[in-house]
Amino acid sequence: MGMMDANPYRLERLFMKTQVAIIGAGPAGLLLGHLLRAEGIETVIVERATPDYVLGRIRAGVLERTMTDLMDQLGLGGRMHAEGLPHDGFHLADGERLIRIDVAALTGKQVMVYGQTEITRDLMEAAPERGLEIIYDAGDVALHDVDSDAPYLTYSKDGATHRIDAQFLCGCDGFHGPSRKAIPASVATAYEKVYPFGWLGILADVPPCNHELIYANHERGFALASMRSETRSRYYVQVALDEKVEDWSDERLWDELAIRLGPEAAAQMVRGPALEKSIAPLRSFVFEPMRYGRLMLAGDSAHIVPPTGANPHYS
Ligand code: DHB
Repeated sequence: MGMMDANPYRLERLFMKTQVAIIGAGPAGLLLGHLLRAEGIETVIVERATPDYVLGRIRAGVLERTMTDLMDQLGLGGRMHAEGLPHDGFHLADGERLIRIDVAALTGKQVMVYGQTEITRDLMEAAPERGLEIIYDAGDVALHDVDSDAPYLTYSKDGATHRIDAQFLCGCDGFHGPSRKAIPASVATAYEKVYPFGWLGILADVPPCNHELIYANHERGFALASMRSETRSRYYVQVALDEKVEDWSDERLWDELAIRLGPEAAAQMVRGPALEKSIAPLRSFVFEPMRYGRLMLAGDSAHIVPPTGANPHYS
């Protein structure tokens, strides 16, 4: 024990100084960390979970131009361009017809089908070479003195309490993380709408039913045909909040998708066993202020938009 305590490396790890300490190594924290490193700013990310847990999260699959431009600007867009599927448009379905919206013709821009999970992986893998330190498995993350000019955070790891002093703290720790809670309620306003429905999603290793996405407005509820690749599909149906995943067999879900997406999509739909099936409640949320003293919020800690509401911008 005595030897361990005398180890200078260990001392350095218990008390660390940096310019910006980011809480959360999801897409928002990783992207911010890389953007700061590209400006030569010393940055450390602390993450409560393990790398495998972070990469196991199912996230949306379509990136808009803002995001693909940022990856290119960072010089990290290589795999995205090699493996992603650029789309010029999408379809709206009304129960019978498919109506194509030509986004490229209307805006001059494409969207990119490349899972946010893949973006997360690319940003994680590039972190060491860019000098972006990520500390995983950091428990009990707490923010201190955010309204002073010497804020710091503490966390526990390997049975010890660690401290990072920083000029700024950035909360990229999602809707449930501790950062937003460090802003006193007396100065804060939260705007929130919880929708009376959720999205039941299925991921399956089957080819997509269309080469582009289909957003369906059906009297039985919304449905979305999306994809992760030419061999992996992602579908959603809107369901009531009291629905249980257990009540939705794969067969029932495929049947419902076929009805809502319409005959043309149904004819091309390939069914397969669910790799993942879950219900996501939908929320709109904006928190003010997004900056308080030396603390800044980014990503889902500051604002949430429901799917098909521009989340992939990371605005
Ligand atoms: C997905 C795609 C979308 O366009 C969207 O709005 C939400 C989710 C997806 O593929 O998961």
